[in-house]
Amino acid sequence: MNHAGMLLRGKKRSRPVEASARCQEEVKFKEVMVYLVEKKMGRSRRNFLTSLARSKGFRVDDVLSDEVTHVVAEDNQAGGLWSWLREQGLRDISKVQVLDISWFTESMREGRPVTVESRHHIQETLAETVCSTPAAVDNVSQYACQRRTTTENHNKMFTDALEVLAESSEFNENEGRCLAFRRAASVLKSLPSAVRSLGATQGLPCLGEHTEAVIEEILQFGRCFKVEEIQCDERYQALKLFTSVFGVGPKTAEKWYRRGLRSFKEILNEPAIQLNKMQRAGFLYYRDISKTVSKAEAQALRCIIEETVHWIMPDAILALTGGFRRGKEYGHDVDFLVTTPELGREEGLLLHVIDRLQDQGILLYCEHQGTTFDATKLPSCNFEAMDHFEKCFLIVRLYEDQVEGGLQRNPGDSRAWRAIRVDLVVPPVDRYATALLGWTGSRQFVRDLRRFARKERRMLFDNHALYDKTKKMFLSTTTEEDIFVHLGLEYVEPWQRNA
Ligand code: CTP
Ligand code: MN
Ligand code: MN
Repeated sequence: MNHAGMLLRGKKRSRPVEASARCQEEVKFKEVMVYLVEKKMGRSRRNFLTSLARSKGFRVDDVLSDEVTHVVAEDNQAGGLWSWLREQGLRDISKVQVLDISWFTESMREGRPVTVESRHHIQETLAETVCSTPAAVDNVSQYACQRRTTTENHNKMFTDALEVLAESSEFNENEGRCLAFRRAASVLKSLPSAVRSLGATQGLPCLGEHTEAVIEEILQFGRCFKVEEIQCDERYQALKLFTSVFGVGPKTAEKWYRRGLRSFKEILNEPAIQLNKMQRAGFLYYRDISKTVSKAEAQALRCIIEETVHWIMPDAILALTGGFRRGKEYGHDVDFLVTTPELGREEGLLLHVIDRLQDQGILLYCEHQGTTFDATKLPSCNFEAMDHFEKCFLIVRLYEDQVEGGLQRNPGDSRAWRAIRVDLVVPPVDRYATALLGWTGSRQFVRDLRRFARKERRMLFDNHALYDKTKKMFLSTTTEEDIFVHLGLEYVEPWQRNA
Protein backbone atom coordinates (compact mmCIF):
# COMPACT_ATOMS: atom_id res chain seq x y z
CA MET A 1 0.00 0.00 0.00
CA ASN A 2 1.31 3.47 -0.77
CA HIS A 3 1.77 6.25 1.74
CA ALA A 4 -1.50 8.04 1.09
CA GLY A 5 -3.38 4.78 1.35
CA MET A 6 -1.93 4.13 4.77
CA LEU A 7 -2.86 7.59 5.88
CA LEU A 8 -6.45 7.03 4.86
CA ARG A 9 -6.71 3.68 6.54
CA GLY A 10 -5.16 4.95 9.74
CA LYS A 11 -7.65 7.73 10.33
CA LYS A 12 -10.73 5.67 11.03
CA ARG A 13 -13.86 7.36 12.06
CA SER A 14 -16.97 5.55 13.15
CA ARG A 15 -19.63 8.24 12.82
CA PRO A 16 -21.56 7.83 9.60
CA VAL A 17 -21.82 10.83 7.29
CA GLU A 18 -24.82 12.97 7.99
CA ALA A 19 -26.78 14.59 5.23
CA SER A 20 -26.79 17.96 6.98
CA ALA A 21 -23.01 18.09 7.20
CA ARG A 22 -22.80 17.38 3.50
CA CYS A 23 -24.74 20.39 2.32
CA GLN A 24 -22.28 22.84 3.77
CA GLU A 25 -19.36 21.47 1.82
CA GLU A 26 -18.51 23.32 -1.35
CA VAL A 27 -18.54 21.35 -4.61
CA LYS A 28 -15.35 22.06 -6.50
CA PHE A 29 -15.48 19.43 -9.22
CA LYS A 30 -18.93 19.43 -10.79
CA GLU A 31 -17.90 17.14 -13.63
CA VAL A 32 -17.05 14.28 -11.30
CA MET A 33 -19.50 12.17 -9.30
CA VAL A 34 -17.85 9.40 -7.36
CA TYR A 35 -19.49 6.20 -6.21
CA LEU A 36 -17.62 4.01 -3.72
CA VAL A 37 -18.35 0.29 -3.91
CA GLU A 38 -18.97 -0.99 -0.41
CA LYS A 39 -18.19 -4.59 -1.17
CA LYS A 40 -14.69 -5.48 0.11
CA MET A 41 -14.28 -1.89 1.35
CA GLY A 42 -16.64 -2.17 4.27
CA ARG A 43 -19.23 0.33 5.46
CA SER A 44 -17.17 2.32 7.95
CA ARG A 45 -14.24 2.82 5.62
CA ARG A 46 -16.68 3.80 2.89
CA ASN A 47 -18.28 6.39 5.17
CA PHE A 48 -14.89 7.74 6.11
CA LEU A 49 -13.71 8.02 2.48
CA THR A 50 -17.02 9.62 1.53
CA SER A 51 -16.70 12.42 4.05
CA LEU A 52 -13.03 12.89 3.24
CA ALA A 53 -13.79 13.31 -0.45
CA ARG A 54 -16.68 15.67 0.23
CA SER A 55 -14.51 17.80 2.48
CA LYS A 56 -12.14 18.19 -0.46
CA GLY A 57 -14.91 19.41 -2.77
CA PHE A 58 -15.72 16.10 -4.47
CA ARG A 59 -19.27 14.96 -5.08
CA VAL A 60 -19.95 11.44 -3.82
CA ASP A 61 -23.23 9.67 -4.54
CA ASP A 62 -24.54 7.24 -1.94
CA VAL A 63 -26.39 5.31 -4.61
CA LEU A 64 -25.21 4.19 -8.02
CA SER A 65 -27.24 6.53 -10.24
CA ASP A 66 -26.79 7.60 -13.85
CA GLU A 67 -25.12 10.74 -12.52
CA VAL A 68 -22.11 8.75 -11.37
CA THR A 69 -18.98 9.25 -13.49
CA HIS A 70 -16.34 7.42 -11.42
CA VAL A 71 -16.97 4.09 -9.71
CA VAL A 72 -14.21 3.30 -7.23
CA ALA A 73 -13.69 -0.19 -5.83
CA GLU A 74 -11.18 -1.91 -3.64
CA ASP A 75 -9.61 -5.34 -4.16
CA ASN A 76 -12.22 -6.16 -6.71
CA GLN A 77 -10.03 -7.45 -9.52
CA ALA A 78 -11.40 -10.95 -9.48
CA GLY A 79 -14.53 -10.38 -7.50
CA GLY A 80 -17.20 -10.11 -10.15
CA LEU A 81 -17.36 -6.33 -9.94
CA TRP A 82 -18.33 -5.98 -13.59
CA SER A 83 -21.09 -8.55 -13.40
CA TRP A 84 -22.43 -6.67 -10.38
CA LEU A 85 -22.20 -3.32 -12.20
CA ARG A 86 -24.12 -4.67 -15.18
CA GLU A 87 -26.98 -5.72 -12.94
CA GLN A 88 -27.38 -2.19 -11.53
CA GLY A 89 -29.44 -1.02 -14.51
CA LEU A 90 -27.29 1.96 -15.48
CA ARG A 91 -28.38 3.67 -18.67
CA ASP A 92 -24.93 3.53 -20.23
CA ILE A 93 -22.22 1.66 -18.42
CA SER A 94 -19.64 2.63 -21.05
CA LYS A 95 -19.82 6.22 -19.78
CA VAL A 96 -18.62 5.27 -16.33
CA GLN A 97 -14.96 5.03 -15.29
CA VAL A 98 -14.47 1.90 -13.24
CA LEU A 99 -11.42 2.54 -11.10
CA ASP A 100 -9.20 1.06 -8.50
CA ILE A 101 -8.86 2.77 -5.11
CA SER A 102 -5.42 4.04 -6.21
CA TRP A 103 -7.12 6.69 -8.36
CA PHE A 104 -9.10 7.83 -5.33
CA THR A 105 -6.12 7.95 -2.99
CA GLU A 106 -4.06 9.91 -5.48
CA SER A 107 -6.91 12.32 -6.02
CA MET A 108 -7.26 12.88 -2.28
CA ARG A 109 -3.55 13.53 -2.03
CA GLU A 110 -3.62 16.03 -4.92
CA GLY A 111 -6.86 17.61 -3.74
CA ARG A 112 -8.37 17.27 -7.23
CA PRO A 113 -9.52 14.42 -9.48
CA VAL A 114 -6.28 13.18 -11.06
CA THR A 115 -6.27 12.21 -14.72
CA VAL A 116 -7.42 8.65 -15.18
CA GLU A 117 -4.66 6.43 -16.49
CA SER A 118 -4.98 2.91 -17.74
CA ARG A 119 -3.32 1.53 -14.59
CA HIS A 120 -6.30 2.90 -12.62
CA HIS A 121 -8.88 0.95 -14.58
CA ILE A 122 -10.33 -2.22 -13.21
CA GLN A 123 -10.49 -4.54 -16.18
CA GLU A 124 -13.26 -6.99 -16.62
CA THR A 125 -12.00 -10.52 -15.98
CA LEU A 126 -12.08 -12.91 -18.89
CA ALA A 127 -14.71 -15.06 -17.21
CA GLU A 128 -17.00 -12.06 -16.86
CA THR A 129 -16.44 -10.94 -20.46
CA VAL A 130 -17.21 -14.38 -21.80
CA CYS A 131 -20.43 -14.50 -19.79
CA SER A 132 -21.61 -11.02 -20.65
CA THR A 133 -20.72 -10.56 -24.32
CA PRO A 134 -23.87 -11.55 -26.19
CA ALA A 135 -22.25 -12.26 -29.54
CA ALA A 136 -18.83 -12.62 -31.04
CA VAL A 137 -17.63 -9.43 -32.67
CA ASP A 138 -15.73 -11.05 -35.50
CA ASN A 139 -16.72 -10.84 -39.15
CA VAL A 140 -18.28 -7.41 -38.99
CA SER A 141 -19.08 -6.30 -42.54
CA GLN A 142 -17.72 -3.04 -43.93
CA TYR A 143 -21.23 -2.40 -45.31
CA ALA A 144 -23.89 -1.07 -42.95
CA CYS A 145 -26.53 -3.00 -44.93
CA GLN A 146 -24.89 -6.25 -43.78
CA ARG A 147 -24.97 -5.22 -40.13
CA ARG A 148 -27.92 -5.04 -37.76
CA THR A 149 -27.97 -1.78 -35.85
CA THR A 150 -30.72 -1.14 -33.33
CA THR A 151 -31.32 2.15 -31.52
CA GLU A 152 -29.37 0.79 -28.56
CA ASN A 153 -25.86 2.21 -28.93
CA HIS A 154 -23.35 0.70 -26.49
CA ASN A 155 -20.55 2.95 -27.69
CA LYS A 156 -22.14 6.38 -27.50
CA MET A 157 -19.08 7.84 -25.81
CA PHE A 158 -17.02 7.05 -28.92
CA THR A 159 -19.66 7.69 -31.57
CA ASP A 160 -20.54 11.13 -30.14
CA ALA A 161 -16.89 12.11 -30.40
CA LEU A 162 -16.63 10.75 -33.95
CA GLU A 163 -19.79 12.65 -34.96
CA VAL A 164 -18.15 15.92 -33.86
CA LEU A 165 -15.07 15.09 -35.91
CA ALA A 166 -17.23 14.17 -38.92
CA GLU A 167 -19.21 17.38 -38.65
CA SER A 168 -16.09 19.47 -38.31
CA SER A 169 -14.61 17.78 -41.42
CA GLU A 170 -17.84 18.55 -43.23
CA PHE A 171 -17.56 22.24 -42.28
CA ASN A 172 -14.00 22.16 -43.61
CA GLU A 173 -15.25 20.56 -46.84
CA ASN A 174 -13.15 17.49 -46.24
CA GLU A 175 -15.67 14.97 -47.53
CA GLY A 176 -13.35 11.99 -47.45
CA ARG A 177 -12.49 12.43 -43.82
CA CYS A 178 -16.10 13.17 -42.91
CA LEU A 179 -17.26 9.92 -44.50
CA ALA A 180 -14.44 7.99 -42.83
CA PHE A 181 -15.51 9.19 -39.36
CA ARG A 182 -19.20 8.52 -40.14
CA ARG A 183 -18.37 4.98 -41.28
CA ALA A 184 -16.30 4.32 -38.18
CA ALA A 185 -19.09 5.61 -35.92
CA SER A 186 -21.57 3.44 -37.77
CA VAL A 187 -19.48 0.29 -37.21
CA LEU A 188 -19.23 1.04 -33.47
CA LYS A 189 -23.00 1.60 -33.27
CA SER A 190 -23.59 -1.92 -34.54
CA LEU A 191 -21.53 -3.64 -31.83
CA PRO A 192 -23.43 -5.74 -29.25
CA SER A 193 -21.45 -4.33 -26.33
CA ALA A 194 -19.15 -1.48 -25.32
CA VAL A 195 -15.55 -1.39 -26.48
CA ARG A 196 -13.47 -1.51 -23.31
CA SER A 197 -9.97 -1.88 -24.69
CA LEU A 198 -8.20 -1.03 -27.91
CA GLY A 199 -7.70 -4.74 -28.46
CA ALA A 200 -11.44 -5.16 -28.78
CA THR A 201 -11.42 -3.12 -32.00
CA GLN A 202 -8.98 -5.51 -33.68
CA GLY A 203 -10.33 -6.73 -36.97
CA LEU A 204 -13.19 -4.24 -37.15
CA PRO A 205 -13.57 -2.62 -40.59
CA CYS A 206 -13.56 1.14 -41.32
CA LEU A 207 -11.53 2.12 -38.23
CA GLY A 208 -8.63 4.25 -39.45
CA GLU A 209 -5.70 5.51 -37.41
CA HIS A 210 -7.47 8.76 -36.46
CA THR A 211 -10.42 6.81 -35.12
CA GLU A 212 -8.16 4.39 -33.24
CA ALA A 213 -6.43 7.36 -31.63
CA VAL A 214 -9.78 8.81 -30.55
CA ILE A 215 -10.87 5.48 -29.04
CA GLU A 216 -7.56 5.10 -27.23
CA GLU A 217 -7.75 8.59 -25.75
CA ILE A 218 -11.31 8.12 -24.55
CA LEU A 219 -10.44 4.75 -23.02
CA GLN A 220 -7.53 6.31 -21.20
CA PHE A 221 -8.81 9.74 -20.20
CA GLY A 222 -12.55 9.47 -20.59
CA ARG A 223 -12.46 12.25 -23.17
CA CYS A 224 -10.89 13.26 -26.48
CA PHE A 225 -8.90 16.46 -26.49
CA LYS A 226 -9.21 17.06 -30.24
CA VAL A 227 -12.98 16.93 -29.88
CA GLU A 228 -12.94 19.35 -26.97
CA GLU A 229 -10.72 21.69 -28.97
CA ILE A 230 -13.21 21.62 -31.87
CA GLN A 231 -16.14 22.22 -29.56
CA CYS A 232 -14.43 25.35 -28.24
CA ASP A 233 -13.61 26.60 -31.72
CA GLU A 234 -15.48 29.78 -32.64
CA ARG A 235 -16.03 28.84 -36.26
CA TYR A 236 -17.31 25.36 -35.40
CA GLN A 237 -19.70 26.80 -32.82
CA ALA A 238 -21.04 29.42 -35.23
CA LEU A 239 -21.49 26.98 -38.13
CA LYS A 240 -23.18 24.46 -35.86
CA LEU A 241 -25.54 27.13 -34.56
CA PHE A 242 -26.38 28.51 -38.00
CA THR A 243 -26.94 25.10 -39.64
CA SER A 244 -29.36 24.24 -36.83
CA VAL A 245 -31.81 26.63 -38.51
CA PHE A 246 -34.25 25.02 -40.98
CA GLY A 247 -33.18 26.09 -44.48
CA VAL A 248 -29.59 26.96 -43.59
CA GLY A 249 -26.93 24.67 -45.04
CA PRO A 250 -23.14 24.72 -44.54
CA LYS A 251 -22.63 27.12 -47.48
CA THR A 252 -24.95 29.83 -46.14
CA ALA A 253 -23.60 29.33 -42.62
CA GLU A 254 -20.05 29.84 -43.90
CA LYS A 255 -21.08 32.98 -45.78
CA TRP A 256 -22.56 34.46 -42.61
CA TYR A 257 -19.53 33.47 -40.56
CA ARG A 258 -17.19 35.15 -43.08
CA ARG A 259 -19.19 38.37 -42.71
CA GLY A 260 -18.26 38.29 -39.06
CA LEU A 261 -21.71 37.24 -37.82
CA ARG A 262 -21.73 35.01 -34.76
CA SER A 263 -25.25 34.98 -33.32
CA PHE A 264 -28.88 34.85 -34.49
CA LYS A 265 -29.33 38.38 -33.23
CA GLU A 266 -26.49 39.63 -35.43
CA ILE A 267 -27.94 37.85 -38.46
CA LEU A 268 -31.45 39.17 -37.91
CA ASN A 269 -30.13 42.72 -37.36
CA GLU A 270 -27.96 42.72 -40.49
CA PRO A 271 -29.90 44.62 -43.18
CA ALA A 272 -27.76 43.27 -46.03
CA ILE A 273 -28.88 39.71 -45.31
CA GLN A 274 -31.92 38.55 -47.24
CA LEU A 275 -33.42 35.45 -45.70
CA ASN A 276 -35.42 33.21 -48.00
CA LYS A 277 -38.89 32.01 -47.10
CA MET A 278 -37.66 28.75 -45.60
CA GLN A 279 -35.06 30.47 -43.43
CA ARG A 280 -37.60 33.02 -42.23
CA ALA A 281 -39.82 30.16 -41.09
CA GLY A 282 -36.74 28.48 -39.60
CA PHE A 283 -36.08 31.49 -37.37
CA LEU A 284 -39.74 32.15 -36.62
CA TYR A 285 -40.33 28.63 -35.27
CA TYR A 286 -36.77 27.97 -34.12
CA ARG A 287 -37.57 27.28 -30.48
CA ASP A 288 -40.12 24.62 -31.40
CA ILE A 289 -38.49 22.88 -34.32
CA SER A 290 -35.00 22.75 -32.82
CA LYS A 291 -36.52 20.67 -30.03
CA THR A 292 -36.85 16.91 -30.60
CA VAL A 293 -40.13 15.32 -31.60
CA SER A 294 -41.28 12.47 -29.35
CA LYS A 295 -42.81 9.18 -30.47
CA ALA A 296 -46.19 10.25 -29.05
CA GLU A 297 -46.04 13.53 -30.98
CA ALA A 298 -45.11 11.64 -34.17
CA GLN A 299 -48.05 9.28 -33.59
CA ALA A 300 -50.42 12.24 -33.17
CA LEU A 301 -49.17 13.70 -36.45
CA ARG A 302 -49.65 10.39 -38.16
CA CYS A 303 -53.33 10.48 -37.15
CA ILE A 304 -53.71 14.00 -38.51
CA ILE A 305 -52.01 13.22 -41.83
CA GLU A 306 -53.85 9.91 -42.18
CA GLU A 307 -57.22 11.51 -41.60
CA THR A 308 -56.45 14.28 -44.06
CA VAL A 309 -55.16 11.95 -46.79
CA HIS A 310 -58.06 9.51 -46.40
CA TRP A 311 -60.65 12.29 -46.36
CA ILE A 312 -59.44 13.14 -49.86
CA MET A 313 -58.81 9.61 -51.09
CA PRO A 314 -59.98 6.77 -48.83
CA ASP A 315 -57.79 4.09 -50.45
CA ALA A 316 -54.57 6.12 -50.54
CA ILE A 317 -51.55 4.40 -48.94
CA LEU A 318 -49.71 6.16 -46.13
CA ALA A 319 -46.50 4.97 -44.46
CA LEU A 320 -44.45 6.42 -41.66
CA THR A 321 -40.78 6.48 -42.71
CA GLY A 322 -37.56 8.06 -41.40
CA GLY A 323 -36.26 7.58 -37.89
CA PHE A 324 -39.63 6.76 -36.33
CA ARG A 325 -40.08 3.77 -38.65
CA ARG A 326 -36.68 2.62 -37.38
CA GLY A 327 -38.08 2.66 -33.84
CA LYS A 328 -36.34 5.81 -32.65
CA GLU A 329 -37.81 7.44 -29.53
CA TYR A 330 -37.03 10.96 -30.75
CA GLY A 331 -36.54 12.61 -34.13
CA HIS A 332 -36.01 16.02 -35.66
CA ASP A 333 -39.08 15.71 -37.89
CA VAL A 334 -41.76 13.20 -38.97
CA ASP A 335 -41.46 11.63 -42.43
CA PHE A 336 -44.27 10.07 -44.49
CA LEU A 337 -44.67 8.37 -47.86
CA VAL A 338 -48.01 8.72 -49.64
CA THR A 339 -49.12 6.84 -52.74
CA THR A 340 -52.19 5.36 -54.44
CA PRO A 341 -53.00 1.74 -55.34
CA GLU A 342 -53.33 2.63 -59.04
CA LEU A 343 -50.51 4.26 -60.92
CA GLY A 344 -51.23 7.88 -61.87
CA ARG A 345 -53.97 8.54 -59.34
CA GLU A 346 -51.34 10.12 -57.05
CA GLU A 347 -51.19 13.14 -59.38
CA GLY A 348 -52.60 16.19 -57.64
CA LEU A 349 -53.12 14.36 -54.36
CA LEU A 350 -50.39 16.17 -52.44
CA LEU A 351 -51.64 19.63 -53.40
CA HIS A 352 -55.06 18.57 -52.13
CA VAL A 353 -53.55 17.41 -48.85
CA ILE A 354 -51.73 20.72 -48.47
CA ASP A 355 -54.96 22.67 -49.15
CA ARG A 356 -56.81 20.60 -46.60
CA LEU A 357 -54.14 21.18 -43.91
CA GLN A 358 -54.35 24.87 -44.74
CA ASP A 359 -58.13 24.82 -44.31
CA GLN A 360 -57.71 23.21 -40.89
CA GLY A 361 -55.53 26.17 -39.93
CA ILE A 362 -52.58 24.01 -38.92
CA LEU A 363 -50.22 24.68 -41.81
CA LEU A 364 -47.52 27.08 -40.62
CA TYR A 365 -45.12 26.67 -43.53
CA CYS A 366 -45.08 24.76 -46.82
CA GLU A 367 -42.45 24.28 -49.48
CA HIS A 368 -43.87 22.16 -52.29
CA GLN A 369 -41.70 20.59 -54.99
CA GLY A 370 -43.43 19.18 -58.04
CA THR A 371 -42.26 15.89 -59.52
CA THR A 372 -39.28 15.85 -61.88
CA PHE A 373 -39.42 12.08 -62.15
CA ASP A 374 -38.73 10.78 -65.66
CA ALA A 375 -38.47 7.00 -66.04
CA THR A 376 -36.65 7.37 -69.35
CA LYS A 377 -33.74 9.08 -67.55
CA LEU A 378 -33.09 6.01 -65.39
CA PRO A 379 -30.88 4.50 -64.17
CA SER A 380 -29.19 7.48 -62.61
CA CYS A 381 -25.56 7.39 -61.59
CA ASN A 382 -25.94 10.45 -59.43
CA PHE A 383 -26.48 8.73 -56.08
CA GLU A 384 -26.20 11.39 -53.48
CA ALA A 385 -28.66 13.70 -55.26
CA MET A 386 -32.21 14.26 -54.01
CA ASP A 387 -34.84 12.04 -55.54
CA HIS A 388 -37.27 13.33 -58.18
CA PHE A 389 -40.58 12.53 -56.48
CA GLU A 390 -43.17 15.15 -55.69
CA LYS A 391 -42.71 16.19 -52.06
CA CYS A 392 -43.27 18.90 -49.52
CA PHE A 393 -41.42 20.16 -46.47
CA LEU A 394 -43.92 21.43 -43.91
CA ILE A 395 -44.17 23.02 -40.52
CA VAL A 396 -47.39 21.90 -38.87
CA ARG A 397 -49.15 23.03 -35.71
CA LEU A 398 -49.80 20.25 -33.19
CA TYR A 399 -52.15 20.85 -30.27
CA GLU A 400 -51.63 19.67 -26.72
CA ASP A 401 -54.88 17.68 -26.58
CA GLN A 402 -53.98 15.72 -29.72
CA VAL A 403 -50.99 14.06 -28.07
CA GLU A 404 -51.21 11.18 -25.65
CA GLY A 405 -49.44 12.36 -22.51
CA GLY A 406 -49.33 15.93 -23.83
CA LEU A 407 -46.70 17.93 -25.69
CA GLN A 408 -43.07 18.22 -24.72
CA ARG A 409 -42.87 21.75 -23.41
CA ASN A 410 -40.27 24.45 -23.07
CA PRO A 411 -40.02 25.55 -19.44
CA GLY A 412 -42.48 28.33 -18.71
CA ASP A 413 -44.36 27.75 -21.94
CA SER A 414 -48.12 27.86 -21.57
CA ARG A 415 -49.04 27.66 -25.26
CA ALA A 416 -51.47 24.91 -26.17
CA TRP A 417 -49.53 23.89 -29.29
CA ARG A 418 -46.08 23.43 -30.77
CA ALA A 419 -44.69 23.56 -34.31
CA ILE A 420 -43.32 20.36 -35.87
CA ARG A 421 -41.43 19.69 -39.10
CA VAL A 422 -43.10 17.18 -41.41
CA ASP A 423 -41.89 15.72 -44.73
CA LEU A 424 -44.35 14.18 -47.20
CA VAL A 425 -43.10 12.32 -50.30
CA VAL A 426 -45.30 10.97 -53.08
CA PRO A 427 -43.71 8.29 -55.28
CA PRO A 428 -45.79 6.59 -58.00
CA VAL A 429 -46.86 3.19 -56.66
CA ASP A 430 -44.45 1.23 -58.90
CA ARG A 431 -41.60 3.08 -57.14
CA TYR A 432 -43.01 2.60 -53.67
CA ALA A 433 -40.57 -0.05 -52.39
CA THR A 434 -37.38 1.72 -53.46
CA ALA A 435 -38.73 5.03 -52.13
CA LEU A 436 -39.74 3.43 -48.82
CA LEU A 437 -36.30 1.87 -48.35
CA GLY A 438 -34.61 5.17 -49.25
CA TRP A 439 -36.77 7.30 -46.96
CA THR A 440 -36.60 4.90 -44.05
CA GLY A 441 -32.83 5.36 -43.93
CA SER A 442 -30.73 5.68 -41.99
CA ARG A 443 -28.67 7.84 -44.29
CA GLN A 444 -25.62 5.67 -43.62
CA PHE A 445 -27.57 2.44 -44.14
CA VAL A 446 -28.91 3.57 -47.51
CA ARG A 447 -25.57 4.98 -48.58
CA ASP A 448 -24.00 1.57 -47.98
CA LEU A 449 -26.85 -0.25 -49.77
CA ARG A 450 -25.96 1.80 -52.84
CA ARG A 451 -22.25 1.22 -52.42
CA PHE A 452 -22.81 -2.50 -51.88
CA ALA A 453 -25.05 -2.73 -54.97
CA ARG A 454 -22.49 -0.95 -57.12
CA LYS A 455 -19.30 -2.56 -55.86
CA GLU A 456 -20.41 -6.07 -55.03
CA ARG A 457 -23.29 -6.68 -57.46
CA ARG A 458 -22.73 -4.32 -60.42
CA MET A 459 -26.18 -2.89 -59.75
CA LEU A 460 -27.44 0.66 -59.39
CA PHE A 461 -29.86 1.36 -56.58
CA ASP A 462 -31.55 4.61 -55.63
CA ASN A 463 -34.95 5.87 -54.45
CA HIS A 464 -36.37 5.32 -57.96
CA ALA A 465 -35.19 1.90 -59.12
CA LEU A 466 -32.87 -1.08 -58.93
CA TYR A 467 -30.90 -1.71 -62.12
CA ASP A 468 -28.69 -4.68 -63.01
CA LYS A 469 -25.77 -3.51 -65.16
CA THR A 470 -24.77 -7.03 -66.13
CA LYS A 471 -28.22 -8.02 -67.35
CA LYS A 472 -28.86 -4.45 -68.55
CA MET A 473 -32.34 -4.49 -67.05
CA PHE A 474 -34.43 -3.07 -64.20
CA LEU A 475 -35.36 -5.54 -61.49
CA SER A 476 -38.94 -5.55 -60.29
CA THR A 477 -39.39 -4.41 -56.71
CA THR A 478 -42.80 -4.52 -55.06
CA THR A 479 -41.60 -4.79 -51.48
CA GLU A 480 -38.45 -3.94 -49.53
CA GLU A 481 -37.82 -7.69 -49.19
CA ASP A 482 -37.61 -7.97 -53.03
CA ILE A 483 -34.77 -5.46 -53.04
CA PHE A 484 -32.76 -7.37 -50.44
CA VAL A 485 -33.37 -10.62 -52.37
CA HIS A 486 -32.20 -9.09 -55.68
CA LEU A 487 -29.09 -7.78 -53.95
CA GLY A 488 -28.40 -11.15 -52.35
CA LEU A 489 -28.62 -9.68 -48.86
CA GLU A 490 -30.27 -11.04 -45.75
CA TYR A 491 -33.35 -8.99 -44.92
CA VAL A 492 -32.70 -6.29 -42.35
CA GLU A 493 -35.76 -5.08 -40.43
CA PRO A 494 -36.38 -1.30 -40.28
CA TRP A 495 -35.51 -1.23 -36.55
CA GLN A 496 -32.15 -2.82 -37.39
CA ARG A 497 -31.21 -0.07 -39.87
CA ASN A 498 -30.06 2.56 -37.37
CA ALA A 499 -26.56 2.57 -38.82
N1 CTP B 1 -33.80 11.25 -47.47
C1 CTP B 1 -33.73 11.18 -48.83
N2 CTP B 1 -33.71 12.32 -49.57
C2 CTP B 1 -33.76 13.53 -48.95
C3 CTP B 1 -33.86 13.61 -47.57
C4 CTP B 1 -33.87 12.45 -46.85
O1 CTP B 1 -33.69 10.10 -49.39
N3 CTP B 1 -33.75 14.62 -49.68
C5 CTP B 1 -33.82 10.03 -46.70
C6 CTP B 1 -32.56 9.86 -45.89
O2 CTP B 1 -31.83 8.76 -46.38
C7 CTP B 1 -33.03 9.62 -44.48
C8 CTP B 1 -34.53 9.61 -44.54
O3 CTP B 1 -34.89 10.08 -45.81
O4 CTP B 1 -32.57 8.38 -44.03
C9 CTP B 1 -35.11 10.47 -43.46
O5 CTP B 1 -34.45 11.71 -43.43
P1 CTP B 1 -34.37 12.61 -42.15
O6 CTP B 1 -35.72 12.98 -41.71
O7 CTP B 1 -33.44 13.72 -42.46
O8 CTP B 1 -33.61 11.69 -41.10
P2 CTP B 1 -34.13 10.62 -40.04
O9 CTP B 1 -33.37 9.39 -40.29
O10 CTP B 1 -35.61 10.53 -40.08
O11 CTP B 1 -33.64 11.24 -38.68
P3 CTP B 1 -34.43 12.25 -37.72
O12 CTP B 1 -35.00 11.39 -36.66
O13 CTP B 1 -33.40 13.18 -37.20
O14 CTP B 1 -35.47 12.95 -38.52
MN1 MN C 1 -36.84 12.24 -40.00
MN1 MN D 1 -37.05 14.34 -42.93
